[in-house]
Amino acid sequence: MAALQEKKSCSQRMAEFQNYCWNPDTGQMLGRTPIRWVWISLYYVAFYVVMTGLFALCLYVLMQTIDPYTPDYQDQLKSPGVTLRPDVYGERGLQICYNVSDSSSWAGLTHSLHRFLAGYSPAAQQDNVHCTSEQYFFQESFRAPNHTKFSCKFTADMLQNCSGLPDPDFGFGEGKPCFIIKMNRIVRFLPSNDTAPRVDCTFLDGPPRGAGPLQVAYYPPNGTFSLHYFPYYGKKAQPHYSNPLVAAKLLNVPTNTEVVIVCKILAEHVTFDNPHDPYEGKVEFKLRIQE
Ligand SMILES: *[C@@H]1O[C@H](CO)[C@@H](O)[C@H](O)[C@H]1NC(C)=O
Ligand SMILES: *[C@@H]1O[C@H](CO)[C@@H](O)[C@H](O)[C@H]1NC(C)=O
Ligand SMILES: *[C@@H]1O[C@H](CO)[C@@H](O)[C@H](O)[C@H]1NC(C)=O
Ligand SMILES: *[C@@H]1O[C@H](CO)[C@@H](O)[C@H](O)[C@H]1NC(C)=O
Ligand SMILES: *[C@@H]1O[C@H](CO)[C@@H](O)[C@H](O)[C@H]1NC(C)=O
Repeated sequence: MAALQEKKSCSQRMAEFQNYCWNPDTGQMLGRTPIRWVWISLYYVAFYVVMTGLFALCLYVLMQTIDPYTPDYQDQLKSPGVTLRPDVYGERGLQICYNVSDSSSWAGLTHSLHRFLAGYSPAAQQDNVHCTSEQYFFQESFRAPNHTKFSCKFTADMLQNCSGLPDPDFGFGEGKPCFIIKMNRIVRFLPSNDTAPRVDCTFLDGPPRGAGPLQVAYYPPNGTFSLHYFPYYGKKAQPHYSNPLVAAKLLNVPTNTEVVIVCKILAEHVTFDNPHDPYEGKVEFKLRIQE
């Protein structure tokens, strides 16, 4: 009974629907005459044009308030992160292990240093200027070509014995490896009041049994990042900027022992005691030199 009724109303509905799609009596299509369809389409076209215009205007006004030279939001970065090369990560952080007598065990490490320093070749640095002042290099105007600011050269040869030039093995083969320490950039960051930030590397938990304090040769001398590399004005203002580097050549690491080494940046405005960020202001790594 119910099924019969439904069937009937179904065919009825089909007819109604056909009538709705095209009603030959009134000339209506989908409930409207063609001329009304034209009007309503025009109305929606005009409506969307106005909405798009409003949206574009909002975006334009917003873009006008943005300064392309400095980020609006700088996270909470108050102190720069520090990175190490070569960077080999183990299960927990940086872990470097090699065998002095087996050159294939450190070929990858020195290769990664050569690759990293390729960005500091004289050719890669040719757009940068030679700086000699040991003061901050403040630049309020854009006097460099293409409306930019100058950046100071940092060439690999400033790392002397750790530049890969006199010693392409970076000391790995003699058990006195070089590590390169880089401080990440923060726009307009001034690391200290007037003394250059300095790298200081030590054994994390004091010298291992039978060894004295860690002896390190730093390059450039004293392990300093010259103040003329600061402040950094951002990628758009200083497109050719290269981070300054410090190399630490570790001279007395005991062999066949795992040691943990920490390299800190010492500067008044750099902190290295943030428990939430182990790479802020310092870098720690495990090192095991086998023989
Ligand atoms: C300036 O811009 C031009 C064109 O983009 C580029 O060829 C040239 O190398 C730039 N000059 C410098 C010093 O960056
Ligand atoms: C570089 O290494 C050579 C040879 O080991 C050494 O004689 C020299 O003193 C080192 N230079 C510096 C600046 O440490
Ligand atoms: C560095 O400057 C800050 C603020 O200007 C000051 O509080 C601090 O004592 C200065 N530090 C040194 C070592 O002069
Ligand atoms: C290294 O530091 C010492 C003492 O702080 C200073 O007398 C010397 O001029 C510094 N050397 C360089 C090359 O900066
Ligand atoms: C280091 O390499 C040498 C030569 O391949 C090998 O004789 C020695 O056992 C290795 N040392 C360790 C601790 O693996």
